[in-house]
Amino acid sequence: MSWTNKFSEDARAIEASEIRELLKILADPNILSFAGGIPDPELFPMADISSIRNTIELDPVLSKESMQYSATEGYMPLREWIAERCTTENLALTSDNILVTSGAQQSLTLLAAALMDPDLPVAVADPTYLGALQVFMTRRPKFVTVQTDEDGLIPSSLEEAFKAGARILYTIPDFQNPGGMTIPLDRRREIVELAHKYDVVILEDTAYRTLYYDGPAPASLLEVEGDYLGQGKWQSEGLVIQVGTASKTLMPALRVGWTIAPKALFEKLVILKQANDLQTSCMNQMMAFKLFSSILDDHVQKLREVYGERRDAMVKALRRYLPNNVRFTEPAGGMFVWLQLPDGLDAKELLAKSLESEKIAFVPGAAFHATGTGKNTLRLSFSTCKPPVIDDAMRRLANLIAAEERRRVA
Ligand SMILES: Cc1ncc(COP(=O)(O)O)c(C=O)c1O
Repeated sequence: MSWTNKFSEDARAIEASEIRELLKILADPNILSFAGGIPDPELFPMADISSIRNTIELDPVLSKESMQYSATEGYMPLREWIAERCTTENLALTSDNILVTSGAQQSLTLLAAALMDPDLPVAVADPTYLGALQVFMTRRPKFVTVQTDEDGLIPSSLEEAFKAGARILYTIPDFQNPGGMTIPLDRRREIVELAHKYDVVILEDTAYRTLYYDGPAPASLLEVEGDYLGQGKWQSEGLVIQVGTASKTLMPALRVGWTIAPKALFEKLVILKQANDLQTSCMNQMMAFKLFSSILDDHVQKLREVYGERRDAMVKALRRYLPNNVRFTEPAGGMFVWLQLPDGLDAKELLAKSLESEKIAFVPGAAFHATGTGKNTLRLSFSTCKPPVIDDAMRRLANLIAAEERRRVA
């Protein structure tokens, strides 16, 4: 009996994520991993987590509320907190715009279910977050790739995609996963203008936005659109939908993310979420709210210092050790450096060799490309290793790359 021919078309459309598969190898304690885009567990705010958990458990009202079923829309104090944090002069948000989700990944799942039909052209950067490609794939859209440079999406390529019929753009404007690029303000304005010219919905993923090491990222696309439309207009004319998460700043185990959407879309997303998982854990939402409203700013400041040093260590080591014909990005935030090897080198083959001889893991880049290109690219994450370890590992990886390149041209 074969299960394959019993699967639905949607199930057949989805493929295993290369990263999830890799995470299994990484359970081996002998492997030094630059693969996962994960926070350093040593930096989780453990003392605050325990004391907040205690406060909730000892409170006779909160404790029971935290364990009960609750509203699909999310825990009201958390929704209000997010609305207030994201409100600007021209963008007045209320809790009615904030849907709490089980991680940003669920936000993307619900948005795909709400907005994507089979064969709908969806524009994505080349490369982009593979978890988004994976979930969008279940809706079987037609990916239209947009070229990127060191400043992210290239507007002329984006306009080509819009002219080719793309109805939705998915983008990570700040410290992109996997490329590390950040879109400058003037490009953000151009992107919003193009979206309005061609009537394209923008799904803005802000997963890494607050993890900046050289100063804050430019205004978000949502904020730029608020200014573009003028006060009060986004609620009726907005095309930018924003997705956020607590995973990269607090901890992934909370599974707390959110979507910021105007009313009509918000209401559709609520129904889809209800059908999907009823609600996000109330206990976890309370924890997220109490951690956000007490320690977030100080905690993120500490993350910036530690991750910033690791970013510096990786960039410095790559500048020093990599052969000249390997290009790499120098991110101003986030967790990732993106390498482009000379044409003809295959990052998957390099990974097999690197695991065997150096015990170093990274993610081959092809999986981040919607249309199967990028075999010679790879992603390195600097978030979980200390600077001396990064320096030594980059030296060894660079030597391996140089040896492979010599073998290729010989
Ligand atoms: C760009 C991006 N969006 C969304 C997610 C998913 O985050 P969450 O843990 O909130 O589901 C990730 C996780 O790696 C990510 O890198």
